[in-house]
Amino acid sequence: MLASIFTILFSSLALAAPSLKISGCDVSKAKLSLPTGQTQLVTPTTTAPAFIGIGVGIQNYTCASAGTYSSTGAVAELFDISCLNPSLYTDATELVFDLWKVAPKSLTAQQVINDLSLIKSPVILGQHYFITNPITGTGLSPKWDFTSASEKGHSNAFVVGAKAGDIVAPTNPTTDVDWLMLNGVQGDLAKQVFRIQTRGGQPPTSCTPGTPDISVKYVSQYWLFGGSF
Ligand SMILES: *[C@@H]1O[C@H](CO)[C@@H](O)[C@H](O)[C@H]1NC(C)=O
Repeated sequence: MLASIFTILFSSLALAAPSLKISGCDVSKAKLSLPTGQTQLVTPTTTAPAFIGIGVGIQNYTCASAGTYSSTGAVAELFDISCLNPSLYTDATELVFDLWKVAPKSLTAQQVINDLSLIKSPVILGQHYFITNPITGTGLSPKWDFTSASEKGHSNAFVVGAKAGDIVAPTNPTTDVDWLMLNGVQGDLAKQVFRIQTRGGQPPTSCTPGTPDISVKYVSQYWLFGGSF
């Protein structure tokens, strides 16, 4: 069932235009769609999107003494959706989450993405993970790193972000992690990063201190604006 939905979704590209690229399409004219009635996430006016990807991964949490989970970072694989018709971005995000949710624990995000390649070879843009904050030396900072995947050979094709805006997910704040706007503080991959259309990733509302750390599967769109390298 899922496979056939993917077949329709991704093979429509091939049908529409046999020569259409499946990755690396120009997204500079793509329009970021943000919820109205909020001021936290603002579409950049001076830079254009350079990459649009779907991230497939996990959000990690530890049970704090207060009995609630606190974030200890995340790790995700990003694959390129630049050549997909923008009207399909949200459906694609949802479909990938449906697939990732039911995937056996033994399958990595990369393997699930590779399964999509049975239909149409998706291209990995890069990885998203957390590092020690490079400015202050304490705490965690999110990093998007394309140097081992789509931008091999460009040693500055990474960006470390600092959160600049945060709204609860308009889809479902209980299950879906917040939508974010981040400013690049290191690296040349992007000046700003948006995490939107999140699916999953939220921890249970309470926990028993001393219980093991948990990982919660999530999928989201990542829009990277204004890279130069
Ligand atoms: C998240 O947890 C998984 C185990 O579920 C672990 O393999 C991974 O290294 C952790 N990543 C981060 C960034 O904490």
